[in-house]
Amino acid sequence: MKRLSIAIDGPAGAGKSSVAKILARRMGYTYLDTGAMYRAVTYESLRRGLADDAAIVAMAKALDMTVAPGEGHMRVFLGGEEVTAHLRTPEVSAAVSRVSAIPDVRAVMVALQRKLSAEGGTVLDGRDIGTVVLPHADVKIFLTASPHTRAVRRYKEMGGREAGLTVEAIEEEIRTRDHLDSTRAVSPLVPAADAVYLDNSNLTLEETAEAIMAICRKKAGEEA
Ligand code: DC
Repeated sequence: MKRLSIAIDGPAGAGKSSVAKILARRMGYTYLDTGAMYRAVTYESLRRGLADDAAIVAMAKALDMTVAPGEGHMRVFLGGEEVTAHLRTPEVSAAVSRVSAIPDVRAVMVALQRKLSAEGGTVLDGRDIGTVVLPHADVKIFLTASPHTRAVRRYKEMGGREAGLTVEAIEEEIRTRDHLDSTRAVSPLVPAADAVYLDNSNLTLEETAEAIMAICRKKAGEEA
C-alpha cells in the first residue's frame, strides 16, 4: 500500500500533535512536529542572545538540525546535542511566534521539512503544511475546535484553578492569537483549499484519529 504524506494544520489546542502521534503509531509512519523545529531555532537564538532578524536567519541557515522519533515527543538535535527538553519552556513559548514569523527562517525550515517527508510515510503537524510545505500532501486535514473547547483543554492541561487560571482568560488569549495567526503576512493559518475541515469540539482524541484514519484508508485504497 502506498505510504502517504499526511498534513495536519490548525490552531493551538485543537489536538494536532496528540492525533498526529496516534496516527503515526498506528500506521507505522514517522511523526514530524514542525512546531518543535521552530522552537529549536528559537531556543538557539535565545541561548546565543541573538536579537535582530538577520542574525537569527544567519544562525538558522548554518544550524545542523536533525530529528528522531521519541517516546512522548519528537526528539530534536542541534549539532548532535539533544535539545528536546528545552523546547517547551515559557521563555521559548513566548519568543517562538516572533522567530517563526521571519520569512527566511520559515524558508530554511520548510526546506528541511520537505526533505524529511520526501519519501512519504509521514505525518506532519503545523500551521502551513497543507498550504506551503506539502501542497501535494496525500491527505490534508484542518483540525480545529471552538475557542471555548480549546480553552477548557488548555485550562485542564495547565493545572486549572490551582494554577490560578480561568477558562475565560485563556479563551480571550486564544481568540487574540487566532486572529494574529490567521492574519499574519507570512504563511497565515488558513485551511488549504483541498483540506478536510474537521471540528473536533465534540470528539475525543480517539474519535478524531479514527475519522482521519478512515480518510487515509480511503485515499490509500484509491492510490493502490
Ligand atoms: O505547535 P507549537 O505550539 O509547538 O508551535 C510553536 C510555534 O511555531 C507557534 O507559534 C506556531 C509556529 N509554527 C508555525 O508558524 N508553523 C509551523 N508549521 C509550526 C509551528
